[in-house]
Amino acid sequence: MTSDTSIRCVVWFGEPTGIERTRLAQAGWHTRVADANAQGNGVGIRRGDVVVAMADLRKADIDTLGQMAKLMADHPRLPWLALLSAETVVQTPEVERVLRASIDFFTAPIDMQRLIETLGNLAGDVPAPIAYADVPGITGSSPAMMAVVASLRKYAPVDLPVLVTGETGTGKEVAARALHKLSPRRDRPFAAINCGALPANLVQSELFGHERGSFTGANARRIGHFEAAAGGTVFLDEVGDLPPDAQISLLRLLQEGTLERVGSTQSIKLDVRVLAATHVDLEKAVAQGRFREDLYYRLNVLRLRMPALRERADDVLQLAQLFLDAFRKQHDCNARTFSALARKALRDFSWPGNVRELLNRVQRAAVVAEGAQISVADLDLQDVITTRTGHSSLGLTRTSAERDAVVACLRETRFNISECARRLKVSRVTIYRLCKKHQLVLEDMH
Ligand SMILES: Nc1ncnc2c1ncn2[C@@H]1O[C@H](COP(=O)(O)OP(=O)(O)O)[C@@H](O)[C@H]1O
Ligand SMILES: [Mg+2]
Repeated sequence: MTSDTSIRCVVWFGEPTGIERTRLAQAGWHTRVADANAQGNGVGIRRGDVVVAMADLRKADIDTLGQMAKLMADHPRLPWLALLSAETVVQTPEVERVLRASIDFFTAPIDMQRLIETLGNLAGDVPAPIAYADVPGITGSSPAMMAVVASLRKYAPVDLPVLVTGETGTGKEVAARALHKLSPRRDRPFAAINCGALPANLVQSELFGHERGSFTGANARRIGHFEAAAGGTVFLDEVGDLPPDAQISLLRLLQEGTLERVGSTQSIKLDVRVLAATHVDLEKAVAQGRFREDLYYRLNVLRLRMPALRERADDVLQLAQLFLDAFRKQHDCNARTFSALARKALRDFSWPGNVRELLNRVQRAAVVAEGAQISVADLDLQDVITTRTGHSSLGLTRTSAERDAVVACLRETRFNISECARRLKVSRVTIYRLCKKHQLVLEDMH
């Protein structure tokens, strides 16, 4: 984190193009052009400023390369990024020295977005978690999440059932609570009931209540969850698990606004809003005769689909940081952020257990992490950055992800090929092959 008054400055040894300067300025970075021959004298840097040095070698001849390599070696505390042309990426001792002194490097044409992201990482930026002011409990700024938030706002004031779909852990219950909190019923009860967890013979009495003596063990009259939530909202999780008789009672409640307690024939008028969730395909259950079609239509008036976490990769880091910060408030722990490679893995992992799995992994990592940064190993996500010859495993289906993983690992290992190969669990030959494939022409640096 940087203070409000600190300036972000790129000291650019070489010649930035007009577009490059503009893009940096838009991202909040001042550019100061410097001359490698001037030995860094004229660069006015205040304490507290964030400074990154750019070794722009795109137009460098062999002499300039040598001077730059010396300059970089003389200022090892500055974070250096190197810019190379396709031609400079050949194996010479000067290039080798430049790369060894660099935290990361870029080859022309420069990917400005990656460059700006890298600068942000060096400045310690964490994407600010977006908490929607009036939508409690929901974090994320991906397009998929914005669409969810728009639907929540639209559906909340309407007194109709909402069917929430989505894989496990995507936040279906969070969405249901938000709907309640945004609705005029917000000050009335909210009841979340997992239909799959209720014993089949007790579902009716749990949901709708029973009269004294209506069955063995019914020693007293009991109010069901629906009646207890009068005036509020009932969230029926795993609604597909409701047994047939309870389906009939629910249909009646939705159609007529009445219920009967078990053991009674008296109709009770009740005002509740019903929200339902399912992670199974309810249409299929209808087709197979396991779920009533008329009930399905009643529940499915408004539909909200919670996107899987892998569909909102932009949100993963925000959520991870949010969960880490929350954990830190409760427990003693050193971890404050995630390493570059860990961020990569978090973004590339497929998250079968979605947000819940992310929460669990972050909490576990916070416990086992020893330093200030959570590593890939702490998250137990080594597989995500592992490639095997011939095919990519898990996360590495996208070529750019593969390239980024290799670069990130080379960077973390200070271009030590053997160490990089060991961390990525591939052979050194594979590292060379990957470098060639992605035009990272590196030889063994040792
Ligand atoms: N958008 C989100 N922002 C913050 N936390 C979330 C979000 N979505 C889910 N969570 C958290 O993830 C976990 C799983 O959410 P939950 O609603 O129980 O998922 P589901 O009901 O779909 O299985 C909960 O701890 C919840 O607080
Ligand atoms: Mg749930």
